[in-house]
Amino acid sequence: MRSKIVAGNWKMNKNLSETQVLLEELSEKLPSTEAEVIVAPTFVNLADTARMLKSSKIKVAAQNMHFAESGAYTGEISADMLLNINVELVIIGHSERRAYFGETDEFLSKKVKAALANNMRVIFCFGEELEERKAGNHFKVVESQLKNGLFDLPAEAWQHLVLAYEPVWAIGTGETASPEQAQEMHAFIRKTITEAYDASIADEVSILYGGSVKPSNAREIFSKPDVDGGLIGGAALVADDFIDIIRAS
Ligand code: PGA
Repeated sequence: MRSKIVAGNWKMNKNLSETQVLLEELSEKLPSTEAEVIVAPTFVNLADTARMLKSSKIKVAAQNMHFAESGAYTGEISADMLLNINVELVIIGHSERRAYFGETDEFLSKKVKAALANNMRVIFCFGEELEERKAGNHFKVVESQLKNGLFDLPAEAWQHLVLAYEPVWAIGTGETASPEQAQEMHAFIRKTITEAYDASIADEVSILYGGSVKPSNAREIFSKPDVDGGLIGGAALVADDFIDIIRAS
């Protein structure tokens, strides 16, 4: 079901004490909102976060997971491990995973399937790099990321997916896509999904924008018809900023 979502990707930030402080502040200040609010702390603090937010409206997501059920994958975490600590949401395909850890479309597709097979919801990230946009290839790149990562999923799987369009040139750079650029790409994404599946699936999926969203630009970006909220990095680490972004949704 398409809905507003504001998700904070904390990346490799906040130790346990800092996590507790931020969660307390967020819980205290959380405005009443129709948006689904999600935080994704680092693995080591997921279990504590899930415990702390047990009766909160704020949901918890993992930043990554492995596709195997278990086994000899040093340093990795399985879907079962996440579910066992009440984490039912996972971010897959973040551009930092793609760029720094060599995660390919093919590898990500396996992760998506494993998460869905375990009844988890997936926030699937994708987006073009600066050179690709400059060369005018951004639509082609996004189309191929969607096709290779998601388009062999059965139609029913789409109700468990959230998409996050994150142009790499806008992540952590302070440079945001303009609301028009975000809208243009989100509309293209829906068109591509319509061609691969049908209009109802394209219409029902929530598509978040990510990349330097902050209190000063969130409202305008979120007001675009095909933008259903945001995946927030840096600004999610500051309670007041994240709260303001939730208010703007
Ligand atoms: P940013 O990160 O808001 O710091 O640009 C967004 C993201 O990587 O999800």
